[in-house]
Amino acid sequence: MPQPLAPVDGASLSGKERERFAAQMFDNLAPKYVRLNRLISWGADDRWRTQAIAAAKITPGCTVLDLGTGTGDLYIPAYSAAQPGGQVIGLDISANMLAVADERIRAAYPGVPPQLHVRSAAATELPDASVDVVLMGWVLRNVGDRPAAYREILRVLKPGGRFVCVETSRPGFWPFRAGNYVYCSFVMPNIVRFMGGDRASYEYLAKTTVNFPRRHALSAEWTQSGFRDVHSQPLMLGSIALHVGVK
Ligand SMILES: C[S@@+](CC[C@H](N)C(=O)[O-])C[C@H]1O[C@@H](n2cnc3c(N)ncnc32)[C@H](O)[C@@H]1O
Repeated sequence: MPQPLAPVDGASLSGKERERFAAQMFDNLAPKYVRLNRLISWGADDRWRTQAIAAAKITPGCTVLDLGTGTGDLYIPAYSAAQPGGQVIGLDISANMLAVADERIRAAYPGVPPQLHVRSAAATELPDASVDVVLMGWVLRNVGDRPAAYREILRVLKPGGRFVCVETSRPGFWPFRAGNYVYCSFVMPNIVRFMGGDRASYEYLAKTTVNFPRRHALSAEWTQSGFRDVHSQPLMLGSIALHVGVK
């Protein structure tokens, strides 16, 4: 049964408190997440994931870590790209999101047990230098301690391994940015409300989108955190950004 979210400003929380808030919010959204995502992205979310998978340059035999697997939408194409011989490990703080992922992955690849664990991006429990590619789709803005997550990603990546992240962003050209602000602050929250999300969740989704670092600022943050060859690409007029960094 969904537990109503406490009426707190989740976007102002950090560290473990932010994780607990996000885990409960996504636990509640899990049964409707796939439909909700299609609606708020106008059906374009899978196209952006395809671009993220291409940027990840996954080859057969690769080990891929999908951080914030959610309902498995990146896990499924990443698994195909890593065959034959590769594996995908999916981690998420929301057990309910992973339960949906488990069902969808088993339907996509019968006979292949999914590797899914309830764990945080900042504490993956994986060995050092064990992963070729780390993927993150719409997760980073929920992470309460980004420096800790970057340290963990750098720890588990093999030298030369790639970190690929697709996330909401803000357009550089101000008329698009104004339109994006209206969409994120007024249209998207109402879609989430219409789909049965509670007030704390739609306010959180809007605020974390509007307050997240813009594309070039995020690239600089990655470079300062130790990634090299960081580059990014705006998608959907800059309202989404695809970042790639190398260990
Ligand atoms: C918007 S969903 C995206 C799911 C999936 N990556 C996709 O492409 O649809 C964000 C997911 O990240 C998870 N998440 C949020 N913060 C996290 C953290 N610190 N560590 C691991 N997972 C996290 C949430 O529970 C949720 O399932």
